[in-house]
Amino acid sequence: MNIILLGPPGAGKGTQARLLVERRGMVQLSTGDMLRAAKDSGTEMGKKVADVMARGDLVTDDIVIGLIEEHLRSADDDTGFIFDGFPRTLGQADALGDLLGRVGRRLDAVIAMEVNDEALVERITARSTCGNCGEVYNDITKPIPEDGKCSVCGASDFKRRSDDNEDSLKQRLLEYYKKTSPLIGYYHAKGDLHWVPGLGEIEEVASGIARVLDNL
Ligand code: AP5
Ligand code: MG
Repeated sequence: MNIILLGPPGAGKGTQARLLVERRGMVQLSTGDMLRAAKDSGTEMGKKVADVMARGDLVTDDIVIGLIEEHLRSADDDTGFIFDGFPRTLGQADALGDLLGRVGRRLDAVIAMEVNDEALVERITARSTCGNCGEVYNDITKPIPEDGKCSVCGASDFKRRSDDNEDSLKQRLLEYYKKTSPLIGYYHAKGDLHWVPGLGEIEEVASGIARVLDNL
């Protein structure tokens, strides 16, 4: 099963993708995580995208399509992919359709996560991530355990993202409404779109997604 998690910054795409990896053995493909890894390891591409990401703008289609193609071709398991933060433009959506066709896979569902902007600001400004395994925490809704160790891997190095500030978030939201939200109509027209309420507790959102996937 191959699915897209579609939603604005802070909608909970990464949080839900990690639960699907844990519970269904699917493979998470997050272009944001791939770009941050390139930035941290100092590759030429990483240097090129660092400022763009910090400002909250979108990276060019050719870079992210290249990253997804690389991962799709190298993955050999059959449990299915979760596209997290990709596609984000109509060009990327067309490219994903072509790529899946070429590797003999199909898209099963697009899960659109329904949230509101106030919740996003609150969620993003309180977020931190384990620097070792990427588990996502939140000062208010999912605090780092009291012993200061990640509940998944035990590491004690937590990071805040450089684009998790109010200015970048404003720009990320603008980019979302201008370039990514048209994908809702695109996938609705193809019959692939499923809305899931994203404002409840993490487990409630997970149940909403599970209901969609179990009824495909
Ligand atoms: P990316 O990393 O994809 O960021 P994003 O889309 O802005 O989304 P986030 O990762 O911020 O949010 P999320 O939905 O994953 O939420 P999370 O689960 O963490 O992209 C970053 C940048 O990279 C882009 O701005 C762009 O520059 C570039 N980029 C990436 N992909 C690209 C592409 N395809 N094309 C072009 N450029 C690209 O949750 C957020 C917080 O809320 C956490 O603290 C979490 O604990 C908490 N939370 C989650 N669920 C709940 C809940 N139900 N209740 C309460 N709290 C919750
Ligand atoms: Mg994310």
